[in-house]
Amino acid sequence: MAESYTITDNRTGESVEIPIEHGGISMRELRKLDPNVFTYDPAFLQTAACKSSITLVDGDNGILRYRGYPIQQLAEHSSYLEVAYLLVHGELPTRDQFERWVHDITFHTYVHENVRKRFMDGFHHDAHPMGILVSTVAALSTFYPEAKDIEDPDVRMRQVIRLIAKMPTLAAFAHRFSVGLPFVFPDNSLDFPSNFLSMMWKIAEPRYEADPVLARALDTLFILHADHEQNCSTTAMRVVGSAHADSYSATAAACAALYGPLHGGANEAVIRMLTKIGSIDKIPEYIEQVKQGKARLMGFGHRVYKSYDPRARIIKETAERVFEVTGRNPLLDIALELEDIALSDEYFISRRLYPNVDFYSGMIYQAMGFPVDMFPVLFAIPRTAGWVSHWLELLGDPEQKISRPRQLYVGADERPFIPIGDRG
Ligand code: CMC
Repeated sequence: MAESYTITDNRTGESVEIPIEHGGISMRELRKLDPNVFTYDPAFLQTAACKSSITLVDGDNGILRYRGYPIQQLAEHSSYLEVAYLLVHGELPTRDQFERWVHDITFHTYVHENVRKRFMDGFHHDAHPMGILVSTVAALSTFYPEAKDIEDPDVRMRQVIRLIAKMPTLAAFAHRFSVGLPFVFPDNSLDFPSNFLSMMWKIAEPRYEADPVLARALDTLFILHADHEQNCSTTAMRVVGSAHADSYSATAAACAALYGPLHGGANEAVIRMLTKIGSIDKIPEYIEQVKQGKARLMGFGHRVYKSYDPRARIIKETAERVFEVTGRNPLLDIALELEDIALSDEYFISRRLYPNVDFYSGMIYQAMGFPVDMFPVLFAIPRTAGWVSHWLELLGDPEQKISRPRQLYVGADERPFIPIGDRG
C-alpha cells in the first residue's frame, strides 16, 4: 500500500489522500478540501518549509551530516574552508577547486575603509560586538550594490565569497573597537583561523603566530557550527531572502536571530550560569530551581536533538586539547558534574534533555581568551557558510515563493470607532 495520509473533512465528508514524500505531506493538497482552513503550528514544530539537500539532522539518533558526510569525519579530517565549499557547492572540492576557493576567500577579507572609519568608529564605546556585527553586515549591502542582482549566479557567488571572507574581519574589528585597541588588518599569508586569531590578538609583534593547537581547535569549532539546517537564524535568512533582499541584508537578519540567548547567545548564557552556580556543592540547588521552572539549564536541550548532540561530544574532546595549552577552565569541573547530575535526573531524562553544542564551546572560547560578548560573534563567523548555502538553495528552488505564513485571527469582531472624547 502506498504511504499516504487520508484527511477527511467531517463537515462535508470529502477526503483527500496525500502521499508521504521525503517524510512529509504537502499542505497544498489540503487546500483542495477548504482553502480557508489553515494548519496551526506555532514555532514550526511540525512544519517543513522547504526541501533541502544541505544538512541532515537526525535528532533521535544524534546524527549530523553535511551533504551526506558525517560531522565526526569532517571535524577530524577537514577544514572550515573545505566544509564551507562543500556546503555552498554540494561536493567536496578537487585540489584545484580548493586552492581557488581559498585564494578567493583570502583575497576578499578586507573591508572598505568607511566600514572601519565611519561605522565601527561610530558605535558607543561599550557596544556589544554582536550589535556591531549585525549593523556592519547590513551596511555591506550599501558597499556592494550589485548584490541586489540576485538573479545572476556569478554576482551571487561573489557575495557568498565576500560574506564568508569578511565575517572574521568584521568580528575581530568589533572586538578591537570594544577594548580600545587599534584594528589589525587581515594577513593574507595566514590560514583562515590563524588570520582571525591574528586580527583578534596581535599587538606589536611583526607577525602573530597562533598556537597551532588553538588554531585547529577554532577551525574544528567553525566546522561544527557551519550549518544546522532550518534553525532560527537560517530560517530568518530564508524568509528575508525569499523577499529577494540582497545577501547582506538577509545575513544581517540571520545574525540578529543568532544574537538571541535561546540560539547563538546560549554559550554566553552557559558561562554566566556556571559562574553564578560558582561551586560544585551549589549544583543540586540550581538543578532544583530548574525543575521548579525558575531557571533553565543553559546548554541543555534542543528542538531537534532528543539524544546527545554529536557536536557536544566532539567539543568535549576538543576542550581537553585546548586546556592542555591554555590551562584548565575552572568552570569545567562544575560543568562536568552538572552534566552527570542532569543526565541521571528523571526531569532531564523524561524530557530527553542532553548537552547541546553550546554547553562546552563557551568554556573553550573563554580559555582561549575570548570575552563572553564575542561568543555569538564566533558562532556567526562559520554559520555564514550555512546561511549563504541555504540562501543559494532557496533562490534556485522553483517551489519557493516569498515567505508569507497565514494566521488564525482571534481578535475582536468588527466594531465602530469611538472618538477619543466619547471614550470616558
Ligand atoms: N532547562 C530546563 N528545562 C528545559 C530546557 C532546559 N534547557 N530545555 C527544555 N526544557 C523543558 C521545557 O521546560 C519543557 O518542559 P515541560 O514539558 O515540562 O513544559 C520541555 O523541556 C520541552 O522543552 P521545549 O521548551 O518545548 O523545547 P524547545 O524545543 O521549544 O526548546 C531550546 C529548545 C533549545 C530552546 C530549549 O531546550 C532551551 O531553552 N535550551 C537552553 C538554551 C540553549 O541551550 N540553546 C541552545 C540551543 S543549541 C544551539 C543552536 O542550535 O542554536
